[in-house]
Order: sequence, then structure tokens, then C-alpha cells
Amino acid sequence: MTGRGMSDRTRGRGPGAKSGPSGHIPVLLDFVLEALAPQDGELYVDGTFGAGGYSRAILEAADCRLLAIDRDPQALATAQKFSEHYKDRFSFLPGRFGEMARLVKGAGADQVDGIVLDVGVSSMQIDEAARGFSFAEEGPLDMRMSRRGLSAADVCNSFKETDLARIIAAFGEERRARTIARAICAEREVKPFESTLQLADLVTSVIGRRPGAARHPATKTFQALRIYVNRELDELASVLVAAEQLLKPGGRLVVVSFHSLEDRIVKQFLVHRALPKSRPSRHLPESADEAFQPSFKLLNKRAITPTKDEQDANPRARSSRLRAAIRLDAPLIPFGLDQVKIPQVPDPDKAL
Ligand SMILES: C[S@@+](CC[C@H](N)C(=O)[O-])C[C@H]1O[C@@H](n2cnc3c(N)ncnc32)[C@H](O)[C@@H]1O
Repeated sequence: MTGRGMSDRTRGRGPGAKSGPSGHIPVLLDFVLEALAPQDGELYVDGTFGAGGYSRAILEAADCRLLAIDRDPQALATAQKFSEHYKDRFSFLPGRFGEMARLVKGAGADQVDGIVLDVGVSSMQIDEAARGFSFAEEGPLDMRMSRRGLSAADVCNSFKETDLARIIAAFGEERRARTIARAICAEREVKPFESTLQLADLVTSVIGRRPGAARHPATKTFQALRIYVNRELDELASVLVAAEQLLKPGGRLVVVSFHSLEDRIVKQFLVHRALPKSRPSRHLPESADEAFQPSFKLLNKRAITPTKDEQDANPRARSSRLRAAIRLDAPLIPFGLDQVKIPQVPDPDKAL
């Protein structure tokens, strides 16, 4: 893929198009459209609706229909504007994209022509201090996209030190995870965690701020807690399997991710699905070979990254990576997700 300028058809049209309802700038949008190649009459799924940047561009690029999913109740207000504008071409399905197969079937569709995902948090979520995602602003230590389940404060206040250290090491790739976990457990004896700055200041005080470092010392700890409370990597692994199930032959999967943990999962899955496999046992009949044909063809061998212009215009795009693949006419690969490596941490549903 080479990337093309966005056409006049897709620029500046649809609800909230001029400024974006929230200041969220869609990342790698030209490449997303090029990879998805929306066509008239087809059905697409945007698994991460957010401020609707991708959904709007898809609906403006072709006379297609689109199902949009988001787990954040705040996405609903934008979705309502889309429904008023695009009428029955657009439907919003509140929920988790890990449950995409169930949500899409519940909306009456068995198969779709394309799926797009822009995983992670939106600018609205980070910028609204009350959501508790930001280490730079005072807010409740929350970080739940759906506003349900364990909050980041619950994790800091009640998890065992060893479990905290595993979460911070696995999902933050933080070298000093054990030191930070020990400090969290000592601090909560004095004052339970309530606010973002309480945690950000504590992490800064224990690991220090490297002179000249661009990154805040608490960046990795916040990333780890956010990924954990939202089960982001499990969600991603589940939606990849759902995409294999839902896409028609020729249907396209486009995934934009923002850090190496996510990108690794997408890459491992797609590379595995795109390689021919030998029959796992010679005792299986030859006819079983059909079940081990590649189910996807990669659209790009390497991940697509933003141009310098895009990075300058939108610093949040800097770490984004796009991978895309076309569903082939082969059955579902009958393996689970063994080849997708997700760090093992306590199950949030059973942790307390
Ligand atoms: C980066 S934003 C997407 C922005 C969107 N592409 C746009 O242009 O406006 C990610 C969105 O996905 C949602 N999200 C993240 N993980 C999700 C999940 N597992 N299920 C459903 N929605 C999810 C977040 O709530 C957020 O609104």
C-alpha cells in the first residue's frame, strides 16, 4: 500500500466532520480507507467507534452500511447523530468488540465485507480527567472504558504485591515493576488510592525522573493498569477470531494498534493464519488438509506507520501501526489462539 490523499468525498462531510465532535483526530485514516476499500452495497463493522472518525469516512466513501461497536457509554451521543444523518445505513451496537460475532449476529448479519479496529483509548477518554486515564491531571483513579468492573483504584488497593508486579511488568513492560508494586502496597496502608496524581506522584518518587526524559515516569504503570482493567489484550485476541468467522471470502480486516503488545498479537495471529500449515497429525485423513489452508492473505508484509506529516500534525499517532489482511475462501483454522502469546496475569473476575 502506498497511501493516497483522502478524496473530497470523504473529507469534511457527515456529522461532526469539520472539527470532530471531540477533538479526536482519526489516525492513519487514508491508509485505513485504502486497505478497507469500501464498496457500494457492502456491510462493514467499525469495532471501535469512538468519535466516529473511521465510521464517517467509510460511510462517505461508499454507499454502504456500517455497524459500529463501542464499549464506552459516552460514544452513544455521537452514534445518535450518525443515526439521524445516515438513517438505516448506520447502526450502533453498544458492547465489547471481543463479542463481535454475537453482536453482529444479533443485528441480523451472518457475514460482513470488512472490519476495522482502532484499538486503545480515544483522545476524549484521555483528555477527560474524570475518566482517570491521565497521569498528568487530577482525577479518580478509574480507567474503565465501559465504567463497569474493577477500577484501577480497586486493583491498587486490593491486589497482592506479587500480582501487581506481574501486571505492571507484563502490560507496562516496566523494568522496575517490583519496586513500584512494593511502594503501592506500602502507600495504601497509609492512604488508599483514590486519584491519578496520587499514583503518578508515588511512581515518580520511587523510580525518579530521568533528566531530559520525554516520558513521564508513570507512563508504563498507567498503561499496565489500563490494559488490565479493560482486558484489552484478551479483547483483541477474541476479536481476531471473530473476524475470521464473520468475514466473507474477499472481506478485509484492518487493525490499527498503538503499542508493541497489541501489534505483536495482531502480527502473530495474521502471520499464523496466512501461512500454509502441515497436517498436525499424519493419522488425520488427507481430506483434513483443507482445514489447514491459510484463511487470510496479508495486504502488507510490514506494518504501515504514519508519515512524518501525520506525526507532526497529530503526536498521538506517532506509535500507531496498521496491519491488514484479506479473508480467503478457506474454512476457519481449527486451532485456538495458542500461537498468540498473552502474558498470564490474575483473572480480573476472580482476583479479589
Ligand atoms: C482510538 S478510539 C477509536 C477512535 C475512532 N477510530 C475515531 O476515529 O473516532 C478507541 C475506541 O474504542 C473503544 N474500545 C476500546 N476497546 C474496546 C473494546 N474491547 N470493545 C469496544 N470498544 C472498545 C474505546 O472506548 C474508544 O472509544
